[in-house]
Amino acid sequence: MFPAAALSFLRCPVCGTGFSVADHSLRCETGHSYDIARQGYVNLLPGDARPGTADTADMVAAREGFLESGHFAGLRRLIAEAAGRAVAEAGGGSGAGAGGSDAAGGCIVEVGAGTGYYLAGVLDHLPGAVGLALDISKFAARRAARAHERMAAVVCDAWKALPITDGAADLVLDVFAPRNPAEFRRILRPDGRLLVVTPTAGHLRELVAALGLVTVDERKAERLEQALGADFAPVSSEGYEELLLLGAAEAAAVVEMGPSARHLSADELRTRLAALGGPLTATLSVTVATYSPRTP
Ligand SMILES: C[S@@+](CC[C@H](N)C(=O)[O-])C[C@H]1O[C@@H](n2cnc3c(N)ncnc32)[C@H](O)[C@@H]1O
Ligand SMILES: [Zn+2]
Repeated sequence: MFPAAALSFLRCPVCGTGFSVADHSLRCETGHSYDIARQGYVNLLPGDARPGTADTADMVAAREGFLESGHFAGLRRLIAEAAGRAVAEAGGGSGAGAGGSDAAGGCIVEVGAGTGYYLAGVLDHLPGAVGLALDISKFAARRAARAHERMAAVVCDAWKALPITDGAADLVLDVFAPRNPAEFRRILRPDGRLLVVTPTAGHLRELVAALGLVTVDERKAERLEQALGADFAPVSSEGYEELLLLGAAEAAAVVEMGPSARHLSADELRTRLAALGGPLTATLSVTVATYSPRTP
């Protein structure tokens, strides 16, 4: 089911007007129409878009399987708590955004939401909030549409104008996903917050070393500050590390969720993992940072 409370936060990607629901589709004020898929998500990508960076069906299934194993549950809890604090700072999710919100608990937008794993944790933590899970992969959107009853799943491109009204969001969440600072600022309330989770240079360091994988750029944090700098001011930043004990299949899945996977075939990865044998330890190492939008 597509949650009705999400409707007022969405806008037509073609003409920018608002939507109403008619015959299992969203229809804008000038008549553009978008089907609500059988699986409950809405595709708001223009017809000519090429979702080149979208996660494939296999990638989404592997991600879902790994996340269900619970190894990232601690991180999910931390993100939910950080989101709760950020929304409280932002005025407590009053729903009084410029977008004309009718969600009493506020509006949380996750960009590159994948299966909706982290957004569902945030929504559990914030009763009454509505979540919008944006992703360019329809396979991800299918899962996100089922992840939480207060979550709407929308297929769109984070590098383009987002189909979200100005000032709709109390919080924008970005976990290992593409970032579009100007659009994030536009869709946030002026007192809203951006919460970004990025891997540190030491993320999965044991696997990176043992498997000869590509390391995360050590200056990534600095580059993130630079990229966000014109639109956002830093508010808080905390590191999170947890030692994981992984079976070979889980280790393969967690590697395939990250950038290293693009440099190694699935067969080669499994061959190298088989050679290592036994359960493997790997450190989950991320930074959870919040930002406030700069006023123009
Ligand atoms: C590394 S995954 C992270 C997913 C989720 N946040 C998580 O941590 O489980 C990156 C996600 O971004 C999505 N993505 C890639 N390019 C995108 C784009 N241009 N617009 C929106 N989503 C995009 C992918 O389909 C994928 O689901
Ligand atoms: Zn329209």
